[in-house]
Amino acid sequence: MNIAVFCSGNGTNLQAIIDAQKKGFIKADIRLVVSDMAECFAMKRAEKAGIKTFLAEKKNFSSQKDLEAAILKKLKEEKIDLIVLAGYMRLLSPDFIKEYKNKILNIHPSLLPSFKGTRGIKDAFLYGVKITGPTVHFVTEDMDAGPIILQSAVAVMEDDTEETLAEAIHREEHKIYPRAIQLFVEGRLRLEGRRARII
Ligand code: GRF
Repeated sequence: MNIAVFCSGNGTNLQAIIDAQKKGFIKADIRLVVSDMAECFAMKRAEKAGIKTFLAEKKNFSSQKDLEAAILKKLKEEKIDLIVLAGYMRLLSPDFIKEYKNKILNIHPSLLPSFKGTRGIKDAFLYGVKITGPTVHFVTEDMDAGPIILQSAVAVMEDDTEETLAEAIHREEHKIYPRAIQLFVEGRLRLEGRRARII
């Protein structure tokens, strides 16, 4: 199975996925890293690991449609079976998602359906929750709303700051994302309505 990872930033989840693949925990090929940000550290991580990269910067395309068409072409060329979004800050269109229906995963840094959106850690912290944590889910047309594959609970400590909480959440992300990917690779995820059952 061939995987493409989409990133926009630091790429710590990408690194965890690369490391898990190298250790033999993820039994699939990471064939491609796609990014919309030329200078992001995730691209450097990909290059260091010898993974092909594809840069899809908004400014080089006349529309979102053209940008996504270019990405899709590349995905087909590389025979990609699974798309893993790891800090990719761009919303995918319904047409794009249809092309890879139930074959796109995302990680979100809160316990969905709470605190959707780009400020999942901050919003949960400011709300004052006592437990939060990351969610891996299938991507559907509605943002942060697809069937949940794995979640991990992180307790908010009295002396936590937003930064220390973020670190704790990221540590959990790096455990559950490789696990969820391997479940997909093994064909152990079965969708029943909005439930993703692990078989
Ligand atoms: C993670 O917190 C993830 O939950 C969110 O974006 C962040 C990406 O971090 N979707 P990194 O680039 O993998 O370090």
